[in-house]
Amino acid sequence: MSSQPIANQPPTQDELDLLNYQSRIERPVKMKIPELERNERLRHVIFSGQFTVDMLEDLADTADKIRVLSKSRSGQDFLLSLLHHKRAMLYFTQPSTRTFLSFMAACQILGITCNEVRDPTTSSETKGETRFDSLRMFSSYFDLIIMRSKLAKLAESCAYLMNDLESSGNRSVPIINAGSGADQHPTQALLDIYTLQRSFQFAEGKTSTVATRFEELRRNYPELSKGLTNKVYGFCGDIGRGRTVRSLASLLSKYEGVTLIFIAPNDPTLALRDDLRKLLLDRGVKTLEVESFDDSVDGVPVIESLDALYMTRIQKEHNAPGDAEKFATIDLSRYKLTANLVARMKKYAPILHPFPRDQHFGEIPPEIDDDPRAMYFRQARNGMWIRSALLASVFGVDHQIARFFHDEYSEWHHYNEDAASASTA
Ligand code: NCD
Repeated sequence: MSSQPIANQPPTQDELDLLNYQSRIERPVKMKIPELERNERLRHVIFSGQFTVDMLEDLADTADKIRVLSKSRSGQDFLLSLLHHKRAMLYFTQPSTRTFLSFMAACQILGITCNEVRDPTTSSETKGETRFDSLRMFSSYFDLIIMRSKLAKLAESCAYLMNDLESSGNRSVPIINAGSGADQHPTQALLDIYTLQRSFQFAEGKTSTVATRFEELRRNYPELSKGLTNKVYGFCGDIGRGRTVRSLASLLSKYEGVTLIFIAPNDPTLALRDDLRKLLLDRGVKTLEVESFDDSVDGVPVIESLDALYMTRIQKEHNAPGDAEKFATIDLSRYKLTANLVARMKKYAPILHPFPRDQHFGEIPPEIDDDPRAMYFRQARNGMWIRSALLASVFGVDHQIARFFHDEYSEWHHYNEDAASASTA
């Protein structure tokens, strides 16, 4: 827990509250997962480790349906009616653009009314209220709390607070972690996985179901298969402090035959951390750590071997005293993408970035944006669809979406099938 009492000062109630959850936080993830579910559904979304591959498939399927339904007025009206009776609190006390706005848009798609606290100086926390009292207040007015904090484990502690309230017969609502310290960002990992799922369908067109360029690619890459399994994923930049990297790498490790390559300086702050390395090794994932895109793996330079590349920025807001001076002695230019590097990548390999990218550092220069492999803007939009799917799942309306979709589009499918057989007849 990052909030430790300062020596010789009595701890604040906030610190005591956090310490109160310490022993529950220290348990292995496997023990915690059942407490974060109700009737085999996610109740609180705290770690990416809560998602199974089957859940990821189901969420992507719901997201695809929401995406298609949103194109028609009748589909939009249906979606809006689903959770019209629900209210969400977006408690974002750490800066955010995409996560905040895409959650808000996701709520709006499903008819959920949103409210927000982004600046704790406008809340009663300045009058001495603890975060846990604030959270309990939110739960009395809202049906869902989506929260981002610079404190690692705060969202997890709040989920336990809600469970305790529930056990004592009090009102309790789901908690969704929208980024907690340098620790976890499970819904970013969801949208990253969704973007990879869509990329590795190798289908053309916006709805991505009809025409495919898979066979064409297979001529150049005979080993290529659809889906996320048996692929090589590269993560470049600030691996040590990137919560999105931690969450995504832990999810990717659930897919068969993946190789994860971390391209980062050999520095304890920026390189892969021991806990993530251990998790990957325990799961038997082939994990490699290199310092440059030109280092070779099995005789091939890393940049040429990747099926997907996840770029990150250097998270300088987390610098400890002395870090800036230390990083000035490292050649960080090796962790920037260039047009020359992109030209050497596989023709289909998507380039992802959780964003924001840093215009001063320039890990992805804008001239790469027009490359068809540059996926980061689509990735951000995918966040809205997959977060809608997640909310639909938490509130148990995903089956209604599937049913409506089936009823609405079965006619369309029959029409198309009839047209296809008529044209081949
Ligand atoms: C990331 C975050 O906040 O962790 N951004 C995001 O949520 N899209 C990554 C970052 O800030 O570098």
